[in-house]
Amino acid sequence: MTLPRLRGAALATVVFVAVGSTVAPASADAAPGKPGAPRYSAGAASAGDPYFPDQGNGGYDVQHYDLDFSYDPATRFMAATATVTAIATQDLDRFNLDFRGPAVSAVTVNGHAHDFTRDGQELIVTPRPKLKTGHTFTVVVKYAGVPGPITDPDGSIEGWVPTDDGAFVVGEPQGTPAWLPTNDHPTDKATFRFTAKVPAGLTAVGNGQLLSQETRDGWTTFIWDSTEPMASYLATITIGNFLVTESTTPTGIPVYVAIDPRQVSGSAAAVAQIPKMIDFFATMFGPYPFASTGAIIDRAPDVGYALETQTKPVFSGPASVGTMAHELAHQWYGDSVSPRRWSDIWLNEGFATYAQWMYTEYNGGASVSQTFNSSSNYGRAASSPFWQIVLADPGPEEMFSNIPYNRGAMTLHALRGKVGEDAFFRILRGWAAGHRYGHAATADFVALSERESGQDLSDFFDVWLFQKGRPTTW
Ligand code: TRP
Ligand code: ZN
Repeated sequence: MTLPRLRGAALATVVFVAVGSTVAPASADAAPGKPGAPRYSAGAASAGDPYFPDQGNGGYDVQHYDLDFSYDPATRFMAATATVTAIATQDLDRFNLDFRGPAVSAVTVNGHAHDFTRDGQELIVTPRPKLKTGHTFTVVVKYAGVPGPITDPDGSIEGWVPTDDGAFVVGEPQGTPAWLPTNDHPTDKATFRFTAKVPAGLTAVGNGQLLSQETRDGWTTFIWDSTEPMASYLATITIGNFLVTESTTPTGIPVYVAIDPRQVSGSAAAVAQIPKMIDFFATMFGPYPFASTGAIIDRAPDVGYALETQTKPVFSGPASVGTMAHELAHQWYGDSVSPRRWSDIWLNEGFATYAQWMYTEYNGGASVSQTFNSSSNYGRAASSPFWQIVLADPGPEEMFSNIPYNRGAMTLHALRGKVGEDAFFRILRGWAAGHRYGHAATADFVALSERESGQDLSDFFDVWLFQKGRPTTW
């Protein structure tokens, strides 16, 4: 789904653009002599993001994913039918989905069965009849087997991670194809629906709102509906033995919290503050962007991090107050506004970390200036290797190191000092409003900051974003 980029309150026309930056050569079927006649070619096998070159595809724009599956933690066996609805953005005789899941038994396009091939994470489909640009098409992929984790460049795991009572499901930056065929890049958002059938007694918790929950013949089926566009890396359908509580925030946003009973005491303070966090961030950043909120607090010791899965962040261990604030702040910065390229990751992590500093101050803890100056941040020695990474391009191995988090948050605090309170909060709110449900890049943030402040900030952003070293003047 490609959304218009909004400026202030102005509405633009929706245009669908190809996600891929690589233009595949026209195939032999092209009709160069007939203007306007279809010129069929293969969709690009990449979204063109240098951090993960196999990720994403070109030639189409996904509108909706529908996944209907069963999963039995005892055997770790999944049987699934995924239905992907997309619009062709070029005349296509071939296209790819990203898929690293179990054996595929059938692929249909618009109801016609097709041959398909798999090559690494590419599921390659050759539709007949071919697909004309602008037309909506539906791909159904049937698969079954044992999905598993994916290891990242920094050695961490993601994807489908079996736990002692279910599965912990996270996908940043490249885990979702472990269990769902997708156009796996944040520039192609879509709505999602998950229908998950699990042994009775277990709960399957997905993004969005619970439409129904029904137990029959020893299995419970949960239907979860994500009604706002979502990047595939933010999808989850985490399964386990959970205690569920449902409530609403003071402003009426539904809250669904699922907690592994072993994490209740260690997460109590964080869970109790969810409504206060959502309301504080809404005051600071603008309205909460989604129809519901909540959290999934599981036990997945091999994962060791939390993820801002859309509407319900997921935690692999007990949730601290700081991490809860961080993951909820990501709903504005990261989820609603996603990075255009993974090199823009500081726009996620720096913003969520700065929001966490703000919440700490609001909640009676250290002030944001104290945190800025602490030994984890600006107080680090100039000789520390911490300062030797360029924030605007940390590389795939450093994208979840403390550079995007801490240097990113410091950059925002320094910007606040530079442009003043009013302009700073106009920038934060304008960023959330102007790119809601879309994606944006570092250059867009620089431009917005200059527009809202009326200042030339090129030297400022140069030292903070584009140069190595500990900034001294800005
Ligand atoms: N984005 C997550 C957060 O800030 C962290 C995260 C996602 C992560 N994927 C990761 C951390 C892989 C380490 C490795 O909450
Ligand atoms: Zn984060």
